[in-house]
Amino acid sequence: MDSSPILDLAAITLEVNHLERAVHFYAGRLGLPLQHRDDQRGVATLQVGPQKLRLWQPITRQQNAPRLAPLLARGASHLHYAFQVPMEQLPRCREQLDRLGLEWSEVEMSAEGEPADPALYFFDPFGHGLELRGVRPDDQRQPLLRPAEPGLAGLPIVGLREAALAFGDYAAMKERLPRAYGFAFLKEQPDRNFAQFTLAPQPQPDGQGTPQRWLYAWDPQVGLADMLGGDHALVSFYADVDRVEERVRAAGLPCLRDAQGLAVRDPEGHVFEFLAAPSHPA
Ligand SMILES: [Fe+2]
Repeated sequence: MDSSPILDLAAITLEVNHLERAVHFYAGRLGLPLQHRDDQRGVATLQVGPQKLRLWQPITRQQNAPRLAPLLARGASHLHYAFQVPMEQLPRCREQLDRLGLEWSEVEMSAEGEPADPALYFFDPFGHGLELRGVRPDDQRQPLLRPAEPGLAGLPIVGLREAALAFGDYAAMKERLPRAYGFAFLKEQPDRNFAQFTLAPQPQPDGQGTPQRWLYAWDPQVGLADMLGGDHALVSFYADVDRVEERVRAAGLPCLRDAQGLAVRDPEGHVFEFLAAPSHPA
């Protein structure tokens, strides 16, 4: 396939049933800087290194983001996603999760004979499945947005790594994501319906500390560490927006284009937002 027009992961939006508690968990306990909060709209935005995590509490007869209302955008339910942390800080992460009183589990991700590449999994209070994965921020394999320096407070999070979405019709998803948006297919698992797309112009292998980023697309299943893929997710990507729009219009998907970018409603109810790359990537 031609190079993918999708360049990086920009933001993830979670549905939460209590904004105050969600801000307390993510800002107060995990230590993510709070950038914006609007209780009237039921939304908050936190910084995750060079990217963003948005928390949306649904409110009757109201839209969290009026701009995306025509596409019926919602925050994701039970979304599995991963944060990047510097590889050498994983021991500190284990201690901090214990100190926070969060139950966590660890899965070794490397193949036999490779150096250790552990992932730490835990849940937020809203059923979203979180993961901390070690990266080497100065690795040669760089995403568009370089991981940030870890903050002094909370977990040493330097960026977002992946989001995992559920698709009821796995076969249709596998055909549609590359065709209708241009996602770069990397690989599938041999034993379950699990496809991996690199959020970069070319598919890139994961693991071993690479700071690059991925979209995972599963059928409805319980994955590693009891994690579920998200339903009705809203995920934002940096992209060559014109090239994505051409594909989306050819596919006939409902979309809107404005000064902020392109937003598309996927037939499975996910909404994807495509934004121009920042002129000075972090
Ligand atoms: Fe994961």
